[in-house]
Amino acid sequence: MIVESVEVVRSGTALRVRAGGKTRLVRWIDLASQLGAPDARSSRFTAARVARGVVEVELLAGGRERVEIDEAPTLVIEGAGLLMMSDRRGEDPLGMTGDGAVIAVGGRVEWVGTRADLPRTGIDLARARRIDAGGRLVTPGLVDCHAHPVFAGDRAGEFARRAAGQSYLEIARAGGGIAATVQATRAASFDDLVALTCARLDGALACGTTAMEAKSGYDLTADGELRMLEAARAADSLHAVDLEPTLLGAHALPPGRGRDDYVREICEQMIPRAAAAGLCRAVDVYCDEGAFTLEETGRVLEAARAHGLLLRAHVGQFADLGAGRLVAELGGISVDHVEQISADAMRALAAHAVVAVMLPGACVQLRLPPPPVAALRTAGVALAVATDLNPGSSLCESLPLQMWLAATHYGMTVDETWLGVTRHAARALGRADLGWLGPGSAADLVIWNADSPAEIPYRYGAGRALVHQVIKSGRLLG
Ligand code: NIG
Ligand code: FE
Repeated sequence: MIVESVEVVRSGTALRVRAGGKTRLVRWIDLASQLGAPDARSSRFTAARVARGVVEVELLAGGRERVEIDEAPTLVIEGAGLLMMSDRRGEDPLGMTGDGAVIAVGGRVEWVGTRADLPRTGIDLARARRIDAGGRLVTPGLVDCHAHPVFAGDRAGEFARRAAGQSYLEIARAGGGIAATVQATRAASFDDLVALTCARLDGALACGTTAMEAKSGYDLTADGELRMLEAARAADSLHAVDLEPTLLGAHALPPGRGRDDYVREICEQMIPRAAAAGLCRAVDVYCDEGAFTLEETGRVLEAARAHGLLLRAHVGQFADLGAGRLVAELGGISVDHVEQISADAMRALAAHAVVAVMLPGACVQLRLPPPPVAALRTAGVALAVATDLNPGSSLCESLPLQMWLAATHYGMTVDETWLGVTRHAARALGRADLGWLGPGSAADLVIWNADSPAEIPYRYGAGRALVHQVIKSGRLLG
């Protein structure tokens, strides 16, 4: 391929390459086969230029590398117990196929079927890389649709205080909680935030996650919230796991700020600037006791909608302030937590196809009652399951662990937990290409050390041993 021009982007973690008449963003992970294993602290580029059809980059850590920009190779996986996540009512909801096969070309799935049909696909497989799954379960990469992976510091002391009987809200009112993480995050350098995020993504990938949300919300100033979103974009470029940044300026009222003044800053500064810079596709608001009111939530979501961003909200973790119906009526894509939610709001969620995101780790840790899962199911609301990875209520990167909690504590079926971390999670993230396997979907797959769907939540203590191999954008990792 002839490389025509190249430019350093995303804080020096990715290249914008023009080749063969097309421009594309090349992330570190696409270059890793040429440049070695990604390292969040030393893998940034200071300069890049075209030299005789290849790209030459100068690394921040010193030294120069020559890189050929390759498309992902054609990949064939066969001998798979394939879960396609068809999500069609009346059918096997997981779309299970025995002795299945998948062909990925250029990072996308081109074909799925059975091994016997492979010779009749019409796709040239002469130079394809072939992987025999040996009968193992093969699923879409897991999607963690509610996570706060960009932060510094920890709150282990608060965990101990809660274990000794204090509540999350009591600790927050006494100056701990989100405010404690805001202090630590503001004090951290950009590079440290990126490296900390990448380390959390390592943990998630080891448990089968290939895409994760990254909420801001631990700086609570306009510049700082944008810095968090930029750190998420840099981590996305450096790491195999895709990050979807979400602006959560409305996470908490910053100490010393007036309510109205801060909400105005979110609507008039943070949202327009983040939207103009293309730093996020969604905006989230924490509408709850101790956080933002229904009226404030409406103002933030209206501003987000006016800038063409997707709408999400933390709703009813402690108290139902009525945001379920509001999010539905404004055309939002998810409501998250919903331990407290009215029957009327559930009907509105179903009518407007809003996903309810279950966060059982945070729920159990804060000793809250579980959401009304049976009523949500009866109302026809799609359920997702996520980690809520954050330093306060859920410092956990493992979706299989959340699936176990969703099955045992929330009364979700195994099929519901699988759809919750794949197809429904992708909907809550606004990513139609993720969470299912079929022509046109992303070629993000996990080959599990298991041969039936129930084994993943069932063996909840097995952790990383459950994951055999991960394929990201058509490339075998590891
Ligand atoms: O989803 N509820 C708001 N945000 C997080 C908690 C954040 C924190 O405690 O740092 C949550 O549980
Ligand atoms: Fe959260």
